[in-house]
Amino acid sequence: MRIAVAGGTGMVGELVVERARAAGHEVVVISRSHGVDLTTGAGLDEALQGVDAVIDVANVETLSRKKAIDFFETTTRHLLAAEERSHVRHHVVLSIVGVDRVDSGYYAGKRRQEELALAGPIPATVLRATQFHEFAAQLIARVPGPVKVVPSMLTRPVAAADVAAELVLLAEGPAQGLATDLAGPEVLKMPAMVRRVARGKLVLTVPAGRAMSGGGLLPAGDFRRGEVTFDEWVAGR
Ligand SMILES: NC(=O)c1ccc[n+]([C@@H]2O[C@H](COP(=O)([O-])OP(=O)(O)OC[C@H]3O[C@@H](n4cnc5c(N)ncnc54)[C@H](OP(=O)(O)O)[C@@H]3O)[C@@H](O)[C@H]2O)c1
Repeated sequence: MRIAVAGGTGMVGELVVERARAAGHEVVVISRSHGVDLTTGAGLDEALQGVDAVIDVANVETLSRKKAIDFFETTTRHLLAAEERSHVRHHVVLSIVGVDRVDSGYYAGKRRQEELALAGPIPATVLRATQFHEFAAQLIARVPGPVKVVPSMLTRPVAAADVAAELVLLAEGPAQGLATDLAGPEVLKMPAMVRRVARGKLVLTVPAGRAMSGGGLLPAGDFRRGEVTFDEWVAGR
């Protein structure tokens, strides 16, 4: 298959590209650094020529509701319209477990992305995954200064590599609408995870909203289980 990975240079995107290539697929990387801008649509028609499936793992780093909704709405609309013109057969989106139960500005953007994909012209699959193991390191990088303030969220973290493998598997098959959630092997608290990778930096815990700290980010029903534990991931870094 020919698979386009929107956000193919990002944290999980690079792993999706690697996994798709290892599975024998031809891969097209979509990102601004590869000459395609999803917010304007520039370069998309050329990038999607002959593409069978698109895996969308593009991202914006923001807590602002408006910015998140603007980004995920605009990029998804551009992708779906270009996919229709290029006769793409399957649109696969990575979302987050709990976006429907936890209210945050960023999650409002993810919900809009899900709605547009599921109601769109291309048969779609939405995979909701929990926080990546790598999210602990992303948090450290995103919080400036030596003191890292981390919300006391409860999570069932999953290796980004397991998420990438699941996305490629889903892209190879028929569209499923909302797929079974993907989560990791164990429930952990985010501040404890961050302390494991903080390398001497001071990590302070702040209360998260009740939904985030009370299990709103954990799968509510059946879920597919990633294999790599947080300890294994830390050991392999
Ligand atoms: N982090 C987690 O724990 C977690 C858990 C579950 C789901 N997710 C979801 O996983 C997805 C990927 O997250 P991530 O942390 O891996 O992302 P990331 O590292 O922030 O990467 C973002 C990617 O999007 C591309 N991009 C951004 N703006 C673009 C634009 N205007 N046009 C084209 N490409 C653009 C970037 O490339 P350029 O900068 O070159 O354009 C980059 O490849 C997100 O949808 C997120 O909601 C994350």
